[in-house]
Amino acid sequence: MQSKKRYLVTSALPYANGPLHIGHLAGAYLSADVYVRYLRLLGKDVVWVCGSDEHGAAITVKAMKEGLTPREIIDKYDAMFRKAFDGMGIAFDIFHRTSEPIHYQTSQDFFRRLHQNGEFEVIENEQYFDEEKQQFLADRYIIGTCPVCSNPDAYGDQCEKCGSSLSPNDLKPPIRSTLSASNPVKKPTKHWFLKLDKYEGWLRRWITEGELENENDPKIVTKTHNPADWKNHVMGQCKSWLDGGLQPRAMTRDLDWGIPVPPEIDETGSKKLYVWLDAPIGYISATKQWAIDKGQPELWKDYWQKDDTALIHFIGKDNIVFHCLIFPALLREHGDYVLPVNVPANQFMNLEGRKISTSKNWAVWVHEYLEEFEGKQDVLRYNMIKNMPELQDSEFTWKRFQESNNNELVGNLANFINRVLVLTTKNFDGKIPAIADGVTVASSDNAAEKVAPSVELAKLQAGLERLGDFIEKFDFRNALQTLMDISTHGNQFLQFNEPWKTIKTDRNAAAAALNIGMQIVAALAVASQPFLPFTSARLVKMLNIKDLQNGDWASMMEKLRNGEPLITEGSTLGEAEHLFTRIADEVIDAQIKKLEMTDNQTTGGSQQAAVEEVETTPQYAPLADTITYDDFAKMDIRTGTVLTAEKMPKSDKLLKLSIDLGFETRTILSGIAKHFTPEEMVGKQVVVLANLAPRKMMGIESNGMVLMAENAEGKLGLVAPPEGWQNGCVVK
Ligand code: 2FM
Ligand code: ZN
Repeated sequence: MQSKKRYLVTSALPYANGPLHIGHLAGAYLSADVYVRYLRLLGKDVVWVCGSDEHGAAITVKAMKEGLTPREIIDKYDAMFRKAFDGMGIAFDIFHRTSEPIHYQTSQDFFRRLHQNGEFEVIENEQYFDEEKQQFLADRYIIGTCPVCSNPDAYGDQCEKCGSSLSPNDLKPPIRSTLSASNPVKKPTKHWFLKLDKYEGWLRRWITEGELENENDPKIVTKTHNPADWKNHVMGQCKSWLDGGLQPRAMTRDLDWGIPVPPEIDETGSKKLYVWLDAPIGYISATKQWAIDKGQPELWKDYWQKDDTALIHFIGKDNIVFHCLIFPALLREHGDYVLPVNVPANQFMNLEGRKISTSKNWAVWVHEYLEEFEGKQDVLRYNMIKNMPELQDSEFTWKRFQESNNNELVGNLANFINRVLVLTTKNFDGKIPAIADGVTVASSDNAAEKVAPSVELAKLQAGLERLGDFIEKFDFRNALQTLMDISTHGNQFLQFNEPWKTIKTDRNAAAAALNIGMQIVAALAVASQPFLPFTSARLVKMLNIKDLQNGDWASMMEKLRNGEPLITEGSTLGEAEHLFTRIADEVIDAQIKKLEMTDNQTTGGSQQAAVEEVETTPQYAPLADTITYDDFAKMDIRTGTVLTAEKMPKSDKLLKLSIDLGFETRTILSGIAKHFTPEEMVGKQVVVLANLAPRKMMGIESNGMVLMAENAEGKLGLVAPPEGWQNGCVVK
């Protein structure tokens, strides 16, 4: 755990251009909610901010599509966000808006200061201009022919047919404007560029070594974080951006909709702040508003400007570069701000085998879920935390949703709690029974072993400590599993002790077993709160204990350490009710049918990859485990040239290649038929893993493997030696 005095937690501001779906929840919100709820229960000083991201082409494109004004669009979706987050129990300290005056002022002041500090370079370049509409065009407003697949309707930021990321200059003519269908012309325009290249050195040292040099005295170095605590895929993406070399980046745009560049800096009056400049500043303005609402307007400064604050950004993987490089650069070059201690980005959640897509309506919408599964928010939370894409992409399926509800929530958790409560109510008049001196219970690990009741409480304590450790490491999946393990253990304890039998033969034994059972239930009431807040609240009522307060996790651990009970003997229980109920097949089938039916009805732009503002960074496969040089040296990799290539009959994947390795010619079967025609392959120079054990496929022996690189869209490209390189050279 960060040993800081206070925590400032942020969740990516969602674009107010469409309703929330489960992909959003899985990205930046549910994980942060679990983390913050836990911190609050630990009694930490924590503020969690979020809000609607209301600028940029994301909004104006949607406004055009829906025939509404940008203002109408942001009002509509901001209101939907608030309802959906609230409905799911996502409890920010403030959910703000980037259209608020305080945010305009904060962003403009920020820009002013950077300008005064000399952090911008004004660069003039040529951009597409629509003469009919008299405006420069955002990348998304430009249409032309895709240089990769020749789709004539590719956008200036992305071709939706082949998925290639593009920039307007990549498009082939005819170029059109989506605003007027006229052909735009190139016109010079100037913009303010942040000198990102200048910050590469300190950014690299800060991210990869957790060290920041004092700007006035480089000998003074502050330790900021432990780089080993950052997720591999986050660190990998940062390094890859740094290794690629940072370029100056435009922080202004020619747009109608957005925050104006301060008038004393832009004499034309037409430039707006780049949405990726204003959006993260939204975290600051949200904190300011939170402080004002609290009646302590200066309090925001503690969270942004004091070194003993731990700033943590929860985001999806498409936002990594902005939160790890660009925003930290802005914060430090502005001066007086803390930098994040961690950015635990999640990857994406897919749905039923496909990427979630708003435009294809391939999504589970949060507002619809809340209507159709009334009172079952925790079932969705449970399933999503269980499948959270923490380290790699994950998948939501309705079948698994049903199974996890029926088997785990009903079959394990609710079953355990219900048994303990019902048995206690029935046999001990609804009061927590006392543990008589010297009485023993069957161990939850071994029915034949008798232990003192305190031994079981020590196991509970250890389980809860493990759970907390997982949360502190942003490993929410394992944290949830640990919660369920405590319940499984509880069930086992009941099973071994059989209080329903001993009540007739040894009342003291039954009382001790149910008392311990109740302690476990009480611990579950507290420990489930970060994950299943609605269930936790109902459980608190059933146990008739006071509502959970900040600090209750800490006092629970304190009691367990001191050997004190969590729920005292003699206290009276409330009424037991079922916490979860089975979900029937028909309900699940109806959801699957609904997905299939609504598929392909266009309703808007995709949330996870779409308009101009979504950074089209490559998506990275998780880094494989470390190997030694000796492991690597076992591979004999050679250069070669493809002599012949033919399709394998009856296979749509395999090409049969003969490859000249200099010292011999090899036959290699390669699964690249969907990516290359045989004609394309002949004559190509390739790199071959030459000592791979031979393998027979479709009756032919393949002797080696041709190396390929795979991009984020799953396309394969040949790894090639330098042109004209001799065959048979060793690659090392
Ligand atoms: O990708 C997105 O949905 C952006 N609206 C996230 C902004 S995060 C932040 F910087 F505000
Ligand atoms: Zn294309």
